[in-house]
Amino acid sequence: MGATNIFRTPNEVVWGMESYKYLDDILCNMGAKKVLFISDTGVDKAGILKKVRSTLKKAKIKAETLIHRGKEPTVEDAESAGALVRENKFDCLVGIGGGSALDLAKVAAVMKTNSACVSDMAGIDNIEKPGLPFILMPTTAGTGSEVTPNAILSFPELKVKKGLVSKHLYCQVAIVDPLLTVSMPREVTAATGMDAFVHALESFVAKRESSLTNLIAVEAIRLIAGSIREAYDNGENVDARDDMARGSLFAGISLANAGVGAVHALAYPLGGSFGISHGVSNSLLLPWVLERNIRSKTGKFAALAAAMGEAVEGMPEMEAARLLIARIKDFLEYLKIPQRLRDIGVPQSAIPDLAEAASKQTRLLSNNPCDLSLKEITHIYESAW
Ligand SMILES: [Fe+2]
Repeated sequence: MGATNIFRTPNEVVWGMESYKYLDDILCNMGAKKVLFISDTGVDKAGILKKVRSTLKKAKIKAETLIHRGKEPTVEDAESAGALVRENKFDCLVGIGGGSALDLAKVAAVMKTNSACVSDMAGIDNIEKPGLPFILMPTTAGTGSEVTPNAILSFPELKVKKGLVSKHLYCQVAIVDPLLTVSMPREVTAATGMDAFVHALESFVAKRESSLTNLIAVEAIRLIAGSIREAYDNGENVDARDDMARGSLFAGISLANAGVGAVHALAYPLGGSFGISHGVSNSLLLPWVLERNIRSKTGKFAALAAAMGEAVEGMPEMEAARLLIARIKDFLEYLKIPQRLRDIGVPQSAIPDLAEAASKQTRLLSNNPCDLSLKEITHIYESAW
């Protein structure tokens, strides 16, 4: 008999071509009168914000916009977004963008109803009350933030990234429209797409996996592996964008319920100390962490190689599992994602500090299929250097 499992996801997930137009109905049904759109400069410049707002016909709303400038959001960005929401009478927030804009919208929504500062809300279940209603619309196929209970912020003074994890960070409605991802630049398509791939893979082999998350994760791997190169080569190909959008959505649902592991644990310090993007950090470390994990989950690695289209039938399990790592390296090569820490400006002398910082990511490390000592974490960074 299996152990008890819990599966959570937002109340409503709307996806497919032109699903962005559904926002009008949602806001109308909510009776929203004053809405804050939280987005980022790339989305604004690409005209996506304007395109989404132009569809609002039935909903009679006043709308204001907060544009996040810069890279991944800091604790200060979240405090100032929260202050804006506390000072105004918005009745709904709409996050449109990559993970950064979506995470900012999540934190701003709960700041409205909770008096705690952002730092005190970091960690697991440290948000007391539900926030303002919020709707999330991703414009990348990567973070899966629209369906997770997590928001990731960097704390520059501490040189770390921390996660806020709470059931109150699930949005009311996620709208996942591949058409909003068409203008995404190639390098962002590559890095965010591989981040989604890592979500599916890590959650599939995680200690908290379940039969339900496994089903979803395998489908995510199949979709992403089948279309990431085409989406990278030809961003206008809406079928490839559709596969990537669904792959990212499914990977996000699997991540939300099964969690991720050591790839993310080792990637966070690279972002915190060297400002390397989340997608690149994860992608670069992926093969090196898998080399360590392969002995614990050989059968599952082999199953993922099959999901990626490899003919593994009749092959010894370890050989099939090794094919997964080989294909991932081929992807990184194809997508021009750096594969060595030395190629992205990380000095070898930084490894002890990186390893120390990664070893503190206990929430993630405890979910990895095998335990990693500080020595083993150091070895992974050394191999990747
Ligand atoms: Fe991620």
